[in-house]
Amino acid sequence: MDTIQDIQEQAFKELEAASDADAVRALSVRYLGRKGIVTQLLRSVSTRPPDERASFGKRANALKNRLNEAFETALKRLEVSLEGREDHVDVTLPGRTPPVGALHPITQVMDEICDIFSKMGFDVVEGPEVESDYYNFEALNIPKDHPARDMQDTFYVSDAVVLRTHTSPVQIRTMEHKEPPVRVIVPGKVFRCDSDITHTPMFHQVEGLLVDDGVSFGDLKGTLTAFVHQIFDEKTALRFRPSFFPFTEPSAEVDIVCVMCRGKGCRVCSHTGWLEILGSGMVHPALFEKVGYDPDRYTGFAFGMGVERIAMLKYGIDDIRKFFENNARFLMQF
Ligand code: FA5
Ligand code: MG
Repeated sequence: MDTIQDIQEQAFKELEAASDADAVRALSVRYLGRKGIVTQLLRSVSTRPPDERASFGKRANALKNRLNEAFETALKRLEVSLEGREDHVDVTLPGRTPPVGALHPITQVMDEICDIFSKMGFDVVEGPEVESDYYNFEALNIPKDHPARDMQDTFYVSDAVVLRTHTSPVQIRTMEHKEPPVRVIVPGKVFRCDSDITHTPMFHQVEGLLVDDGVSFGDLKGTLTAFVHQIFDEKTALRFRPSFFPFTEPSAEVDIVCVMCRGKGCRVCSHTGWLEILGSGMVHPALFEKVGYDPDRYTGFAFGMGVERIAMLKYGIDDIRKFFENNARFLMQF
């Protein structure tokens, strides 16, 4: 009767020593296989004395089941490879770095623009993105029926309220509550119903306004040239092209040489070799009258630049829409 107990003890001892799945499989064959120890034990039930057969058979069967279960459990544990286990920690692996956020390239360029002008003594101010018709157009010398309103495809919220089409309304807002000298820049979002490879319906501008005694067009040229040389480099060519804005007189648009083709002409610069980055001019006396400045005493200059244009030129990007597609692989390069 003790054989069953002996076999069980022996089997568990051997199982404990088995260090891999193959060893456990071999044990299973040795004990439970066709000619295995327990199999033979079961076959020998009929050779037992009749009064022992029932209990012997029962105990031999129980042993077979117990071993079967023990081998299977051991196999499962050994067969599952370490890597596949959810609770496995491989301390030799390098740590997983969670993705780190970064400033959007447009934000970075906007900060850089503000930095350059701050060092020249400009204060940074902001204004509302939803703007009244008065500040966006009327006060800027653009009356209701003025054709200049067609230059900017406007998103109207209502007859008297628009999504601002430029940052210029903040010129008026600033002058309304401050006496000269005024020296501000205005970064912000603006909106126009416009979309192609160099235009998006939402984009960013940085407005500049300087008003004081004796400000000349030379000051405007010098300030913008210094800016272009800092944001790009000293060798970047720029040109002042006569233009028109109802709120400046005279007016000029500033182009810089196209960095994609270096001035040879390409798709990005519409084959002109130049890319417009900003509009500018001397503040129109009509604005001074609107805000109560003496137009005979003060002069000033203003400018408004497209931040995306500058970012495109700085980084050699040929399609403005890439900035707003939220492709992380594109954005993480900056
Ligand atoms: C204006 O918006 C004037 N307020 C600028 C100004 C300010 C003139 C102060 C005089 C004095 P303009 O519409 O040209 O001007 O736009 C200025 C710049 O914004 C352009 O040079 C261009 O770089 C950029 N821009 C214009 N439309 C878009 C657009 N849809 N997408 C991206 N950038 C644009
Ligand atoms: Mg323009």
